[in-house]
Amino acid sequence: MFARLRSSAPVTPVITPEGVRVWLVTRYEDVRAALADPRLAKDWVTHMTPEDFDINVDPVQAYLDQHMLNLDPPDHTRLRRLVVKAFTPRRTAGLRPRILDITAGLVDAMADGPDETELIEAFTFPLSVTVICELIGIPVGDRESFREWSDTLLSSRGTREETRAAAVAMYEYFTHLVAERRRSPADDLLSALIAARDSGDSLTEHELLSMMFLLLVAGHETMLNLIAGGVLALLTHPAELRRLRDDPSLLPSAVEELLRYANPLNHATERFTLEPVTIGGATIPAKEWVMLATSSANRDPSRFAEADRLDVGRDAAGHVGFGHGIHYCLGAPLARIEGEIAFGALLSRFPALALAVPESSLRWRSSSLIHGLENLPVRLR
Ligand code: HEM
Repeated sequence: MFARLRSSAPVTPVITPEGVRVWLVTRYEDVRAALADPRLAKDWVTHMTPEDFDINVDPVQAYLDQHMLNLDPPDHTRLRRLVVKAFTPRRTAGLRPRILDITAGLVDAMADGPDETELIEAFTFPLSVTVICELIGIPVGDRESFREWSDTLLSSRGTREETRAAAVAMYEYFTHLVAERRRSPADDLLSALIAARDSGDSLTEHELLSMMFLLLVAGHETMLNLIAGGVLALLTHPAELRRLRDDPSLLPSAVEELLRYANPLNHATERFTLEPVTIGGATIPAKEWVMLATSSANRDPSRFAEADRLDVGRDAAGHVGFGHGIHYCLGAPLARIEGEIAFGALLSRFPALALAVPESSLRWRSSSLIHGLENLPVRLR
């Protein structure tokens, strides 16, 4: 479908599963340019009136949603500056020993368990959620609760009431957590942000709560799907799997290629036009939503030779799987390290790793944003 759109209707209005009319952009050059175009804004809570929407937006969800990914400069710049230090490649490299530990614990438990396992339950979810929770300072024991809320908020399936209940639960959860950490600070990102807030520095209570929400959701949903989707891509391409297993020095390029090929996100989060904007020859009027299909851009043959072929040795630099421009993924250095460790551990520990069911029976999550498997049963030996 994307191949057809890229050649015949590269910028076209469509209706999303949530019932919203958006302009879908599918060519690499257009997607990349639009990601860096200041005329495409993010702060819809400020700029869009209820009449601009064709859906009713829940106020609690809107409250949580007003985080840096949904803000424009100067607010975006100020908030990003507060957390960027925690995510530099150097700081992130310091997390490597702990990520190795967590991964080894999970892999050991799988090795001691049955021959067949559900990889998302046994490995990808606990790994991605534990790493981000420890970094931020969220109790990892609460993971099943926020897994459910996060799933509801990101899926296209829930009713309005379910979505509101999940947003309220998430809001209450973070309110309590902030109060508790304010009483007893720890050595984590949340405590550092509370200290910045309480010393009168640059972020409001609202911004603090929505920052927590963003970091938790952006930090575990995507990671989980990179590992699960990446494992599926490798298991269904045995020659590439063998190549990577035989030469682990390919792990960094394999992670980059899996971001390009397996696309944990289908598209960037929606932007809207502040004024009429022409993209790829089409003029989009002011106050219209724009959906940039990064997964289509990453498979555009005008940018990547044989784009539909998985090649773990390819130079996939320039892919837009982490976005581009001012909202470029803050967690990219962490995601790269975690990805290398996760794929490396699975491949070296389980040489016979294989799908336990036919690929066609796997279920995918119902979300236009998240490109994620619901289940991934594998045979370990
Ligand atoms: C495989 C893993 C990941 C993928 C594919 C991914 C992808 C992305 C993409 C595409 C964007 C830009 C969205 C847009 O412009 O609409 C983004 C932004 C962001 N990501 Fe990631 N991400 C990953 C992991 C992480 C992790 C581990 C964190 C850790 C907290 C994280 C935190 C963020 C944040 C905070 C932003 C917003 C940055 C801003 O608005 O300036 N991501 N990510």
